[in-house]
Amino acid sequence: MKDFKPENYKWWQKEIVYQIYPRSYRDKDGDGIGDLPGIIEKLDYIKDLGIKVVWISPIYPSPMADFGYDVSDYTAIHPMFGTMQDFDKLLDEIHKRDMRLILDFVPNHSSNEHKWFQESRSSKDNPKRDWYIWKDPAPDGGPPNNWGSVFGGSAWEYDENTEQYYYHAFLKEQPDLNWRNPEVQEAMFNVLRFWLEKGVDGFRVDVMWHLIKDAQFRDNPPNPDYTEDKSPYDKHLQAFTTDQPEVHDIVEKMRSVIDEYDARLLIGEIYLPVEQLVEYYGKDNRGAHLPFNFQLVLLPWDAREIEAAINKYEGALPPGGWPNWVLGNHDNSRIATRVGAKQARVAAMLLLTLRGTPTIYYGDEIGMEDVPIAPDQVQDPQEKNIPGKGLNRDPERTPMQWDSSENAGFTNGKPWLPLMKNYKELNVEKEWNSEESMLTFYRKLIVLRQKEPALQIGKYRPVLTEGNLLAYIRSSEEKEIFIILNLGNSGEIMDTDIPFSEAVILASTHSLREGEKLKSTIKLQSNEGLIAEIEK
Ligand code: GLC
Ligand code: MG
Repeated sequence: MKDFKPENYKWWQKEIVYQIYPRSYRDKDGDGIGDLPGIIEKLDYIKDLGIKVVWISPIYPSPMADFGYDVSDYTAIHPMFGTMQDFDKLLDEIHKRDMRLILDFVPNHSSNEHKWFQESRSSKDNPKRDWYIWKDPAPDGGPPNNWGSVFGGSAWEYDENTEQYYYHAFLKEQPDLNWRNPEVQEAMFNVLRFWLEKGVDGFRVDVMWHLIKDAQFRDNPPNPDYTEDKSPYDKHLQAFTTDQPEVHDIVEKMRSVIDEYDARLLIGEIYLPVEQLVEYYGKDNRGAHLPFNFQLVLLPWDAREIEAAINKYEGALPPGGWPNWVLGNHDNSRIATRVGAKQARVAAMLLLTLRGTPTIYYGDEIGMEDVPIAPDQVQDPQEKNIPGKGLNRDPERTPMQWDSSENAGFTNGKPWLPLMKNYKELNVEKEWNSEESMLTFYRKLIVLRQKEPALQIGKYRPVLTEGNLLAYIRSSEEKEIFIILNLGNSGEIMDTDIPFSEAVILASTHSLREGEKLKSTIKLQSNEGLIAEIEK
């Protein structure tokens, strides 16, 4: 068993990841859309939060059909976000602050405006034809099989010029690259090397589990659990379109590229059940360092379900596989909206006390909520294609709220998405100096996590609870830290035989309790969470 000494751990095991959606962080040039100079301006804020790892969603040239997840040039910067000089400055300023930069890498598909696709579609014998996935029509002239697009409709688009269909798991403006082709692999690995040479510290790989599709193009089976309220994509089980066995070879190759450089990080975006998810650590951990674990985003907010998920995940991790937890991102409703403002504090406590690298979504640290979007303001292609099923991602992508001035200090122009109505109350400036604010609470939790090896890298041990309570112990050689969370809306009592007589509360969602000693009967108010140190 490894000592719980921070120096024995990698930076990405110890630090907290912070996701920036660049369109919405800070707009310097006044076009209503966030940019790289805007992020540079806010680096001190992030550093002062105690966060050292910044992941930025795509900043490459893109027609923005899917807001940057449709890349038309993998080794350049979208002018809307700035120049390559701005990027170099950003990286430099991040490193000067002893921080790290993670870029978003979107290898599964390019934009249809990428020159590779333009070549590929130009003729059947173009050298890049096989860089994308082209198939003849079915005998009736329709699409080659029943594969559906995540964003609705068939995943096949007919191209009249060459009378074949191309595959797109997402928008028709996002044709899938053919990762079975070694030339594609090499071209994309060179993209990674381009950024690694510049000094970026790692990548978050978009839809990693999509990279390889069935070689025989078999139809997907129907999903027996499909109901009309769901996305049409869920009509089928993705048996032949995602999580194919050969994907692991690709991930391993990607990891080898990362390992050509010192101390870089490979994160994979993967939405799969835990047993399949942990496969992405790869044989002997030669896959992704961190296959994103989205259970806290996907599960109902229920103590028993979450407890079971934590224990199952801990049990499923391969030897040497490092856990991680995500509470929110640009594709899912914000935590404060999902569980309510009060419970969001408990959620923060959970995220920052579980074992494994936590990822914080920008704005969650000030308690930002989903912003209602009027029908004529909708930007997200998912909502436009599949309206009315609650699939709009705009609500969680709204501008960061910096202060009480017009447009919350985000822009001097017209923000690309509306701001929360209450931004005058809920913003960084107001919250930074308020003792009871969400931001102050987050900062407290971060400081605590980063100074206590028990929390940062220590062991995890579940503690038996009932009802709405969730409890566990994190420990190092020196310390045991007890965490107890009330995920419910009513008071709870826990009787315990753990020797708490000497346990002192270090942090609490209700700050008045800090310093208090625990008794063997612990009373928790609704939406209350406690972190206590058990003196050994
Ligand atoms: C990922 C991104 C999402 C995007 C999709 C297609 O899931 O997080 O925002 O729409 O991939 O690239
Ligand atoms: Mg701008």
